[in-house]
Amino acid sequence: MTKQELFFRTLLVFGVVFAAWKTVGWYWSGSQKMSRSVILNQVPSVVQRLLNREPKKPPTQQALNLSPTSLKLVTLTARTTPTTQSTRTTTRAAVAPTKKAAPAFNSSARIPRILHQAFASEMVYENYLPYINGCMSLNPDWTYYLWRDSDAEALISSAYPEFLAKYKKYSDVLERADSIRYIVLHHFGGIYLDMDVQCVRPFFPALENLNSFLDQERIEQTNILWGWPFGVMNSGMGSAPGHPFFREVIDEMLRESRIGNAFTSTGPTILTQVYKRYTAAKHAVPVTMLEPKVMSPLMDGNKNWRSMCGSLAAAKSKPDSRRSWKERGCIMLESKNWRYDDSDNSTICVHRFLHLGYGSFAAVRKKPFNITARFWPRVRTFKRRGK
Ligand SMILES: *[C@@H]1O[C@H](CO)[C@@H](O)[C@H](O)[C@H]1NC(C)=O
Ligand SMILES: *[C@@H]1O[C@H](CO)[C@@H](O)[C@H](O)[C@H]1NC(C)=O
Ligand SMILES: *[C@@H]1O[C@H](CO)[C@@H](O)[C@H](O)[C@H]1NC(C)=O
Repeated sequence: MTKQELFFRTLLVFGVVFAAWKTVGWYWSGSQKMSRSVILNQVPSVVQRLLNREPKKPPTQQALNLSPTSLKLVTLTARTTPTTQSTRTTTRAAVAPTKKAAPAFNSSARIPRILHQAFASEMVYENYLPYINGCMSLNPDWTYYLWRDSDAEALISSAYPEFLAKYKKYSDVLERADSIRYIVLHHFGGIYLDMDVQCVRPFFPALENLNSFLDQERIEQTNILWGWPFGVMNSGMGSAPGHPFFREVIDEMLRESRIGNAFTSTGPTILTQVYKRYTAAKHAVPVTMLEPKVMSPLMDGNKNWRSMCGSLAAAKSKPDSRRSWKERGCIMLESKNWRYDDSDNSTICVHRFLHLGYGSFAAVRKKPFNITARFWPRVRTFKRRGK
């Protein structure tokens, strides 16, 4: 073989290998997309709820920071000064735009008065307005933070750089929306709420003496939809800064290599897993899981639970130990006479399952409003503090 022949043969082999690789890659990504859309069409409410987000806009690179120390100052000020205007002024002076790592946990710390919500931008669907307004009015001395995608990326870049590559790799916008909520709770502490969560009572005093809490889905709903005994939801959570539970959630997201589906990579699956492991290990710093009626007393109203349950005669004739979780959930719901609302005087929030970001529910979205302008000057963002 001449040198020239060898060269062309090698070129040919490379060409063939490259073409084969591309073809396989194309099929692979196609089948991934397919399985994802199939999964999403079957996955009911919890995932749909999680899909409640606008498509991610490319984040602008802008660095700024709010140190946890200054934030502590904010909250302390907020406790004594009910008007947001004066708090705002005080804080501005206190903010030192330095890069800070997440705080160490202080075992006597409690949940600070900061409410966090997240949306792709500050233009938020009007459907959420009454809920946001209600949560702000019932908790007037709480500092309010909006986490836009660009703020999320700025916080992660400065304080959780080890998470940045993962965050950028997420292909499901919900993976970003999910991950940032654990991060802000770990970093600043406070309460995170999805925007379709209605507040019916002030957060405090009921949640005041906790260092953290997690919301639980209605048992019947978890039993029926997921076949699990219970499930932690991430539509409402609270924490003191630096809580080891949320650090474990962040570490678990870092370890989880299967990404692309928020339900498993960043949502209720991972949260429930970490909760089980954390409580089994009897960690010295406890985390509290609330009863469903405290923050999520409703069954998802978009489902026809009776028809999903069907006839329960066969299930009821079995001993309880032989029943599936779904059968148990259905029997429990029937024993409550198909009551979908478990709220009582201990209810603080009501998760409404609006699912606005998803499928046919997107059609009921109302036009967006500017949340910063509407609630001026109350809405803070991570970036705006640095101006
Ligand atoms: C921990 O928090 C308590 C109560 O907020 C405070 O008095 C104490 O100084 C803090 N300890 C440290 C080491 O920051
Ligand atoms: C809440 O309701 C229960 C049962 O109806 C009642 O015993 C309790 O006193 C109520 N608590 C408050 C704070 O209203
Ligand atoms: C929203 O309102 C604020 C305050 O008026 C303004 O600075 C901001 O540019 C507005 N944002 C958008 C996207 O219009």
